[in-house]
Amino acid sequence: MNIDELKSVAQTIVAMQKGVLAADESSPTIKKRFESINVESSEENRRRYREILFTAEGIERHIGGVILFDETLRQSTREGIPFPKLLSNRGIVPGIKVDKGTKALALFPDDKITEGLDGLADRLVEYRDLGAQFAKWRAVINIDDRSLPSMYAIRANAHQLARYAAMCQEAGLLPVVEPEVLMDGAHDIERCEEVTAQVLEAVFAELNAHRVAFEGILLKPNMVIPGKKCARQASVQEVAEATLRCLKRYVPAAVPGIVFLSGGQSDVDATDHLNAMNAMGPQPWEVSFSYGRALQAPVLAAWAGDESNVATAQKALLKRCHFNGLARDGKYARSMECAT
Ligand code: 13P
Repeated sequence: MNIDELKSVAQTIVAMQKGVLAADESSPTIKKRFESINVESSEENRRRYREILFTAEGIERHIGGVILFDETLRQSTREGIPFPKLLSNRGIVPGIKVDKGTKALALFPDDKITEGLDGLADRLVEYRDLGAQFAKWRAVINIDDRSLPSMYAIRANAHQLARYAAMCQEAGLLPVVEPEVLMDGAHDIERCEEVTAQVLEAVFAELNAHRVAFEGILLKPNMVIPGKKCARQASVQEVAEATLRCLKRYVPAAVPGIVFLSGGQSDVDATDHLNAMNAMGPQPWEVSFSYGRALQAPVLAAWAGDESNVATAQKALLKRCHFNGLARDGKYARSMECAT
């Protein structure tokens, strides 16, 4: 394990004004996204859609890494250039989602656990040979205002994230560690902060116990934000302050970067929250993004499966990349959205 190499991959991904495009939707998830625009989820449509994302001119200014799904890592452009190679040629680090999705945790039916550790060491070697330089594992934490998550679910998920991260470091892949406290539900921002704190504390204790070098990971957390059904929604400043307070207490400064997930926030909210945190900087780590929906929602809507919309779809992607790039410096403002 060469920690300096992993650290340097992390630093490339979260370089100035850069973040991550999460394009690693599993087959069931991309099917759902395509259904929303009436596009069939055929292998060719999935390939073509990802090709539209990865060939958009100028995204390399703000995208340092792209997370791919297993199928996508093996696909190529129309001209036959493998996607990992296309991305590397553009200075973008290719990454791979390695978890196999979530299930109900046995005997804890309302909690979730992620599958995919069996055989992972072998898959990591194959992914590395296919060109991936980093990996992602997503743990999902269900939350309500009283009893969820169970402490056991927090511990079990933290343990798995650490096992995964240790295997990645041993295989020479940078692990992106993603514990996601969901936004679903009616819980308030204080409850989200309490649970996020418990989760981060458990995750870093396990990473440490598993001898994972903090210098060679990226953390992909949720922001501290009220549940979507909470009657009291929070201001942008409140979200930024609560999120930073929580992360500063539990995330060691040795971690090179935080790359937030968007988790169902609108694209504009996700950019605005990131901007507010960077405007309060500098922080101990790079504060960046690893957005799926918040980068892709406008692209899917503009594309709608129609070849004549490709240029507009790519423009929509570039716009979100540009604004999130500005948010990396705290230089974004909502008013810019209508000006373009
Ligand atoms: P969202 O930004 O849509 O939450 O996706 C990020 C991701 O990679 C979830 O695992």
